[in-house]
Amino acid sequence: PVKVKLRKADGSGDKGTRVRVHGRVHRERKQKDVLFITLRDGYGFLQCVLTGDLARTYDALTLTRETSMEIFGEMWEVPAGAHAPDNRELHADYYIITRKGKAAGGEDAITNKVQAKGDVQTLLDLRHLTLRGEKVSAVMFVRDAVEFAFHQTYKEHRLRKVSPPALVQTQVEGGATLFKFDYYGEEAFLTQSSQLYLETCLPSMGDVYCIEKSFRAEKSLTRRHLSEYTHIEAELDYITFDNLLDHIERTVVRVLEITMSDPVIAAYIKEMNPEFQMPEMPFKRMKYSDAIEWLKEHNIPNEEGEPHKFGDDIAEAAERRMTDIINRPIFLTHFPVEIKAFYMQKDPNDTRVTESVDMLMPGVGEIVGGSMRMDDYDELMGAYEREGIDPEPYYWYTDQRKYGSSPHGGYGLGLERFLAWLCKQHTVRDCCLYPRYMGRCTP
Ligand code: 4AD
Ligand code: MG
Repeated sequence: PVKVKLRKADGSGDKGTRVRVHGRVHRERKQKDVLFITLRDGYGFLQCVLTGDLARTYDALTLTRETSMEIFGEMWEVPAGAHAPDNRELHADYYIITRKGKAAGGEDAITNKVQAKGDVQTLLDLRHLTLRGEKVSAVMFVRDAVEFAFHQTYKEHRLRKVSPPALVQTQVEGGATLFKFDYYGEEAFLTQSSQLYLETCLPSMGDVYCIEKSFRAEKSLTRRHLSEYTHIEAELDYITFDNLLDHIERTVVRVLEITMSDPVIAAYIKEMNPEFQMPEMPFKRMKYSDAIEWLKEHNIPNEEGEPHKFGDDIAEAAERRMTDIINRPIFLTHFPVEIKAFYMQKDPNDTRVTESVDMLMPGVGEIVGGSMRMDDYDELMGAYEREGIDPEPYYWYTDQRKYGSSPHGGYGLGLERFLAWLCKQHTVRDCCLYPRYMGRCTP
């Protein structure tokens, strides 16, 4: 018999085919002399039906969930009125419990260990086991599809993929969230963003992107901050600020189109996020100064509990209320110089503000941060000074302004935040394999 994966799309569902499948017992149910096993292999689920002597063996009678096994048999259609995944079942004529494949049952069964429902810490301690659950793995399937869709979209836009270092000696997004470590006796950091390195690639490689880990020592516990996250970053040469905004929205929409074009993935997304709708282009554009007015009009206070004023950071809570009310993607642009990173280009029409953008999504808030980059040498030196940054370790970054500078810009998108929005998850912690945040570095 052919050995098949359990996904219907792989052609394994045809009535009458003889197959060999292997996987783990996701569920089992005994009905008179029939044993129904739902087998799981990471591609899908298959109902396997054991009858007669097969259902009466010692192994069958003591079968526990999560046991690994191999089953041989013939594919059948499910009888009218009965239900099974993909509307098909395997009528077994032989099976083998995989050597060492028996799973603990009783007190030690996974379902019993995980039963402390609602106790989030226990569930996270047992993440290696909860990953086997349908809901948890569905997010991982979507994550895989989305990451691939980004690669495909960037290839369509002719961006080159590069792989900048994670161990660095420069900060990008401020000293407060730097992870420092001892690098053979020298001080070094885990990278906060690959942006500065991407910028150095433009002169020889053209537009570039990377999908790498970024690290932030976030000392507050929130729904959307991780210590280690997957950062999708792109840098584009010879562009204007408007070009940058157009590129971001086209990329987001194209990624969603590709992701939703896989019917299996689209079904997972619709199950988790029934209200999902493709965002309409162009996205709403709103200047920071207008957002401040909007927040004042809507009586949404700043972090001190006072009405927002120009120069305030728009904190997570206010940002989320704004996106929830407006309920569509927003490009928030032109943030004041003081609240943004040193490298951001100033708006030539109003030098109090930068050519910067945050893309906000309902339910999550900021998912993308980007800007045009300061391309003038003297201005950049001034920016280091303003921020109290020693320019010495940045010599290689500064050099870009000495040897053929150009108008350029880029952005970074947090993959976990994008998934939290797309899959309607309460927190980014549910959107990565093994979340890392203050207080957790296991499993
Ligand atoms: O806004 P940020 O800090 O921008 C940068 O790092 C730029 N240098 C990127 C660039 O222009 N190439 O971070 C970008 C995005 C945020 O919008 C957010 O989605 C995500 O990275 N992010 C985090 N995601 C999870 N946990 C954290 N602690 C995050 N910090 C930022
Ligand atoms: Mg940001």
